This record gives sequence, C-alpha cells and structure tokens, in this order.
Amino acid sequence: MTYKYKYFIANWKMFGDFSSFKIINLVNNYINKIKSKKSRIIFCVPSTLISYFSNRLKKSNIFIGAQNCHYLDEYGSHTGSINSKMIKSAGAKYVILGHSENRIEGDTDNLINNKIKSAIKNNLVVIFCIGETLNQKKQNLTNKILSMQIDKGLRLVKSLNKIIVSYEPVWSIGTGKIPTHKELNNAVSFIKYKLNKKFNNKHSVKIIYGGSVNVKNIGELITIQGINGFLIGGASQSAKKFIDILKNCYK
Ligand code: PGA
Repeated sequence: MTYKYKYFIANWKMFGDFSSFKIINLVNNYINKIKSKKSRIIFCVPSTLISYFSNRLKKSNIFIGAQNCHYLDEYGSHTGSINSKMIKSAGAKYVILGHSENRIEGDTDNLINNKIKSAIKNNLVVIFCIGETLNQKKQNLTNKILSMQIDKGLRLVKSLNKIIVSYEPVWSIGTGKIPTHKELNNAVSFIKYKLNKKFNNKHSVKIIYGGSVNVKNIGELITIQGINGFLIGGASQSAKKFIDILKNCYK
C-alpha cells in the first residue's frame, strides 16, 4: 500500500537546548515554502524541550515526539523517570521506543513491549526500532532477529494503527554505512511479511528506515519499495542537512 506521505523523523538523541528551536524553524520555513503535502515531519527531541517546542509549533505542520518513556502508564515512585502520560501532556504525539542505544543501556524486549503498550494506551504513536547487530548480520541472523524483536516487542499489541516500525541495523547507526539496495529490500519485505502474518493482514503496515541517512544516500534510499520514510539522527541536528535531505526527495 502506498501512503499519502513519507515520514521524515528527526532523532535528536542527547542534543539541543531552547536555542535549537531555530533548526526546526528553518525546516518549518522550508516546508511552508514548498507546500509539500507529501511529507510528515516529526522532531523527536529531549524531554526538556517537548513542551516549549510543541507550544511554538501549534500552528505548524511539524510534530514533536519523545525519545523514550517509562513503562508504567500511571504516576509512581520512579525517581527521574517520565512516562507516556507525561510526555503526551507535554505535547508529544510520537515516541521512539526500542532504539538500539536504549537496548544497549538495558531496555529488554519485554521492557520495550511494556513501554509500547503504555504509550499506545496514552494515545501516542510509537516509532518502534528493530535491527540486527553486525555480528548477527554476519551470521545470517537478520530475519531471525527482526522476527524475534517484532514478536516480543509487539506481544499483546492488538493493532498496528499506532505503530511505525523503524528498521535500523545497529551497524549502520552513526557509522556512515547503509545496507545495500538488496539487503534493504529483503529486510523491508521480510518485516512487512512478518507484520502482515502476525496481524492477519488487518492493518496497514508502516515501515521506515534509519541509520546514517544523509543527503548523499537519500536519493538511493527513496527508491526502495515499501519504505514509508526515514529516521534521521546526526543529519537532523543541522537545518541545512535536514532540508537538503528533503530537497533531494522532492526534486
Ligand atoms: P544516525 O542515527 O542517522 O546518526 O545514524 C539514526 C538513529 O539513531 O536513529
């Protein structure tokens, strides 16, 4: 199924303060100028910026997302934590969950599954990251890992309506390396097949790609069938780089 638009989702990671709003402002000016209805732009920013940025973007076509949340959907004694209800009330519409940088820091598939359920309950759209490590790729385990992460991460999740699956090979994040056309085609087709099977073809599947997306490779990446957009890390911390990516998609 082809979508009416492509997602361009910025993952700012541990970057940004109030003055960084100027980056989003420049992107906003650009999309207002080109009046493209073909893209949905989302900036996933640190929690400290969600409220301020989403207030400033109320009348714009840019949405704000968070980068993680606690697994409990109610308040509780968890010093330093923020849950989906809180990021939602701060103005986020989306949340990244299962990112490999969080998996490395201790997020298990089970924990990610609980976070996903809590985020859906609080009406957030989840950007669910999955992907294999270099070692797993070398051992030809990519599909096995993707399948396992989907089964465990989406356990007891009833619908895909609030899920965007982001295929992010761990070895491509921040390295400048991206999968070959064939590898990406295979992974995306496999994810689609797996999700359709798991959800009995009942829901539309949204799959994006993340890992070293930049102005040089976007022209190639955009030609891959079945990709509904991109999760962009490093290149989203610069207005010029982010805008150049958009320009290369719509030239
Ligand atoms: P990168 O990060 O674009 O800097 O590789 C992508 C991500 O971690 O989501």
